[in-house]
Amino acid sequence: MSNQIVVFGAESAMAHEAVETCRRLGIEIAAAVVTGRPEWELLELDNIVHENAISDSLTKLPVICPVWLPQLRRRAVESARKLGFNDFMTIVDPTATVASSARLGKGVYVHTGANVGAGATIGDFALINRGALVSHHCHLRAYVTTGPGITMSSRCRIGEEAVLGVGCTLIQDRIVGERAFVGAGAVVIRDVDADTTVAGNPARVIKRSKDS
Ligand SMILES: CC(C)(COP(=O)(O)OP(=O)(O)OC[C@H]1O[C@@H](n2cnc3c(N)ncnc32)[C@H](O)[C@@H]1OP(=O)(O)O)[C@@H](O)C(=O)NCCC(=O)NCCS
Repeated sequence: MSNQIVVFGAESAMAHEAVETCRRLGIEIAAAVVTGRPEWELLELDNIVHENAISDSLTKLPVICPVWLPQLRRRAVESARKLGFNDFMTIVDPTATVASSARLGKGVYVHTGANVGAGATIGDFALINRGALVSHHCHLRAYVTTGPGITMSSRCRIGEEAVLGVGCTLIQDRIVGERAFVGAGAVVIRDVDADTTVAGNPARVIKRSKDS
């Protein structure tokens, strides 16, 4: 594992969490790249640079894009690529547990205390939040975001760019479609269509995107 990393999208609150994980892993932050308006106080981040002031030597280093919302994270990854970054690092907080048979894609962040079970697959640039429980043989596609403390029972399948809100629960074998949003605390007992927001216990549809 590289000893230096670039944090892209440092204006995101999640960047602060990822920086803490890097420190726990003994990885030095070579630069924290700001690409937009800060959501949070940036003073605690060292080496802040603006995206139009990135040197070639920085783009040779591994980079992480710890942004909460899938669409914004995808945008950050695309911007980083355009600037010349191509080594997207996966970081797993030392307090998290990932089964040896689980597979993590590139650019994944597994936050503090998360648990990823046997045979699970986590797609590129997915974000597994603090204390999330991803049971055995669950499959998460690229750019999925889980909120803190979710519970995903075995063999669930989560579509690209879907969001599982803080503390939600999925019973086993559920399928959540692409870009769906599961509300905070929801209990998902039926599959969730793509581009749909569900909430409550049991989870019911509260919104469908206009173009779905
Ligand atoms: C589900 C969610 C995305 C809906 O947001 P929204 O589209 O702005 O929806 P609204 O706030 O307009 O609420 C629409 C209706 O759904 C209800 N609702 C919204 N979220 C709900 C939830 N989590 N559980 C139960 N009901 C919920 C509202 O009470 C409202 O009902 P009403 O029409 O009878 O008054 C949002 O409430 C949510 O849960 N976000 C998760 C945030 C999260 O996990 N953050 C983690 C940060 S680390």
